[in-house]
Amino acid sequence: MEIRSQYSIIKSKDKKYTNSTILLEKGKLSYEWALNTMKIISKIREKYERSKPLSSFNLGFCLHITKETSVLLMAAKALGANISICSANPLSIQEDVVEFLKYNEINVFATKNQTKKEFFNNIIKVINTNPNIITDDGAELHSIAHNRKIKSIIGGTEETTSGILRILSLQSNNKLNYAIIGVNEAKTKHLFDNRYGTGQSIIDGLLRTLGILIAGKHFVVSGYGWVGKGVSSSLRGLGAKVTITEVDPIKALEAHLDGFNVQRLKDVLPNGDCFITCTGQRDVISKKDFSLMKNGVFLANAGHFDVEIDIHYLQSQDKFPKQMRPHLECYNINGKKIHLIAKGRVINLIAGEGNASEVMDLSFANQLLSILYIAENYKNLKKKLYEVPKEIDDQVAQLALSAFGIKIDKLSQRQIDYYYNNSSL
Ligand SMILES: NC(=O)c1ccc[n+]([C@@H]2O[C@H](COP(=O)([O-])OP(=O)(O)OC[C@H]3O[C@@H](n4cnc5c(N)ncnc54)[C@H](O)[C@@H]3O)[C@@H](O)[C@H]2O)c1
Repeated sequence: MEIRSQYSIIKSKDKKYTNSTILLEKGKLSYEWALNTMKIISKIREKYERSKPLSSFNLGFCLHITKETSVLLMAAKALGANISICSANPLSIQEDVVEFLKYNEINVFATKNQTKKEFFNNIIKVINTNPNIITDDGAELHSIAHNRKIKSIIGGTEETTSGILRILSLQSNNKLNYAIIGVNEAKTKHLFDNRYGTGQSIIDGLLRTLGILIAGKHFVVSGYGWVGKGVSSSLRGLGAKVTITEVDPIKALEAHLDGFNVQRLKDVLPNGDCFITCTGQRDVISKKDFSLMKNGVFLANAGHFDVEIDIHYLQSQDKFPKQMRPHLECYNINGKKIHLIAKGRVINLIAGEGNASEVMDLSFANQLLSILYIAENYKNLKKKLYEVPKEIDDQVAQLALSAFGIKIDKLSQRQIDYYYNNSSL
């Protein structure tokens, strides 16, 4: 009831409500809506709110600025942290959330429709706050912190597959300056966020943009990793015909035995109605491929960076002036219409609202517990990429099960002995 009455306030035409007041009210509602389902973060917050273990820490975040991110930041603030944030992608910024965070005295360096230059300047503004712990999604903040040799940093965390690859490259060149916990590698992150989260939100981004019927269409999904698996199984569930393209023979075989059509990209180019890249790799769909595609084809990217589809080539070609739908551009390639969704950037966060709150609860619970772990243990950590400690992963899974009201069985002592001390074998 309270939410409905607030919503009617923000819809009011009353002049005293300025644009930023309206956004703030919307941001409060967005936060409350996400908080309702983010029960794991709430439990962690309840546990540590009184002792405030982050009170002597300055935290720098580089994340997509969504309602779920506001729940993570408000929890970190309640644990005593001083917080600054910039966005992990120039366009993944929900303005209502920005207003809400600013109202709650969190330093936000991000503006809707910021240019690439402003995006990088905003990352530097977070660096200039001298953060102690950095939480990143894509390792942009980590890279700049390393280039500038920022002394204040005692450790960091990384959210996504593409960011982990960049950190591994720093590590293999002996350039890592502080310990980083690879949150993406937690089972309770990639098995659920990358797979079930994006499996739903990529479809949401597609439908919000195109509103097309998925059943009967031919989708080509490049990459059968966690994201690709989620996306292709959701598409199949909606009646699409799905072809997978892969470079890893094991993943390709897995896709085949999961019942998908598996082909080389070049062989399927003339047949796909919609292509979705989910690889984390560059140049997956390149200049030579566009003219071989069907007239009217749709292209979208689910990977972290906008390098999977050759958008620079597309953007150098004639563009149809009429924009038929938000987040949709149409290029003329040899007389064919080639539609690009969300400028080839991560579709679910630009054309949609990102992953559902329940799944971000798992990912961000790993983030918050990893931040707490660094705050407590940084003196004993080496300059390397760490896995999320198993006890954190297990704790997040237990908390998630209890949030979903699920109880599971326990091994008896006899069963434990059978597994671990089986002398009869
Ligand atoms: N949109 C989101 O919300 C979201 C969420 C999680 C991860 N991500 C991003 O999505 C990307 C994929 O993540 P993931 O966890 O699935 O990674 P993953 O490593 O599990 O899977 C990537 C797959 O792509 C395959 N691949 C690489 N190059 C290819 C090519 N040229 N053609 C075909 N297949 C190719 C790899 O063999 C691998 O199987 C990353 O950039 C990651 O950061 C996005």
